[in-house]
Amino acid sequence: MAKRVALAYSGGLDTSVAVKWLGEELGVEVVAVAVDVGQGDDFEAIRRRALDAGAVESVVVDARREMAEDFVVPAIFANARYEGRYPLVSALSRPVIVRHLVAQARLHGADAVAHGSTGKGNDQVRFDVGARTLAPDLEILAPARTWGLTRADCIDYAARHSIPVEATKEKLYSIDENLWGRAIECGVIENPWAGPPDEPFTLTRATQSKPREVVIGFEGGVPVMLDGRRVALAELIGELSSVVGAYGWGRVDMVENRRVGIKSREVYECPASLALILAHADLEGLTLERDVSHEKARLEPRWAELVYDGLWFSPLREAIDAFFSTTQRHVTGDVRLVLAPGSCIVAGRRSPMSLYDHGLATYDASDTFEHKDAEGFSRIWGLGLVTWAARQGGGSPGPAGTATDGPPARSPEVSGDEESK
Ligand code: ARG
Repeated sequence: MAKRVALAYSGGLDTSVAVKWLGEELGVEVVAVAVDVGQGDDFEAIRRRALDAGAVESVVVDARREMAEDFVVPAIFANARYEGRYPLVSALSRPVIVRHLVAQARLHGADAVAHGSTGKGNDQVRFDVGARTLAPDLEILAPARTWGLTRADCIDYAARHSIPVEATKEKLYSIDENLWGRAIECGVIENPWAGPPDEPFTLTRATQSKPREVVIGFEGGVPVMLDGRRVALAELIGELSSVVGAYGWGRVDMVENRRVGIKSREVYECPASLALILAHADLEGLTLERDVSHEKARLEPRWAELVYDGLWFSPLREAIDAFFSTTQRHVTGDVRLVLAPGSCIVAGRRSPMSLYDHGLATYDASDTFEHKDAEGFSRIWGLGLVTWAARQGGGSPGPAGTATDGPPARSPEVSGDEESK
């Protein structure tokens, strides 16, 4: 049985109750570990709140840069969107938190780690699998999976034990935020037919009506410039989020498949991440060779699924990342986004590594394409089908074809095998 546990602490109701509950019910000492992944909270207040709730130690780790460089960068390389839409906001932050949770457990001599996730979500899987992979010797405690407390029970428990919490019984949404965006669940959102309410959105409120441009500069697949200004990634994401969000663009409303087998209606606001993925994928269109690009597109959804499923610390994710890294070498250049109320579109792209050859592409006099080569290429390209059409095809012509009821008339030249070589 564990004696000392490092708890992933958010400062919210559940993890605050967990601090006390772990001490009272399991008799363990709690080291609260709050990890700043860009959720914009007051971390000094959070640090103190954990102590007030009964933690023996309370630490705050600033992991914003790490989140940006080690987790968001690979996600951009992967153009990562789970089920084609959700840019993995929460899924990306959990392995960052797990890393620090394990490190703090070691530092403070804990023999267990704990998290506040429930049994119905993906986050528990990400915490559990991540912690088991990094530290198989540590026990894992997940009080919210076992305590059987409703939200109202938690609030009563907090009041009984003088745990300072801001929550009220009619809290409407469950919100998870980090520098890559915000995930909003619960309340009226649980009815998939009901339109999402406006109130929980904070990053995507339309305040601008005059269209504007923003130019994103990439080097080796990494966004490094905003309108020609070099900005560190975490800051670039923050700035772009305000610029794009001010046009009310960047929301996702979807029913997604959780790893635990539950369909869930989720609403996200991710103006910066969606804009960066849009721009990055577009620049790849200009700079990636065709086969690389097509193969990469096949692996992208797999990567998103792995990370969504809590398998960040896995050899397959690492192997796919190695492939993606190789592909990014020449993904350098600028993408011009045009913003207008409710819209963000790519209006132009350029690259010193561009594979776009104007001489080959143009229809004007500067054309360098060898037109006469095309005839033979095109004939051989279709050769197999010409044979097929002559021998077996023609049975199902389109509306403009000459439909017959029976098999196609056999032409004399191709009717005998002996003549056809
Ligand atoms: N459905 C998303 C995911 O699984 C968001 C989860 C948000 N987590 C939360 N505790 N509210 O990644």
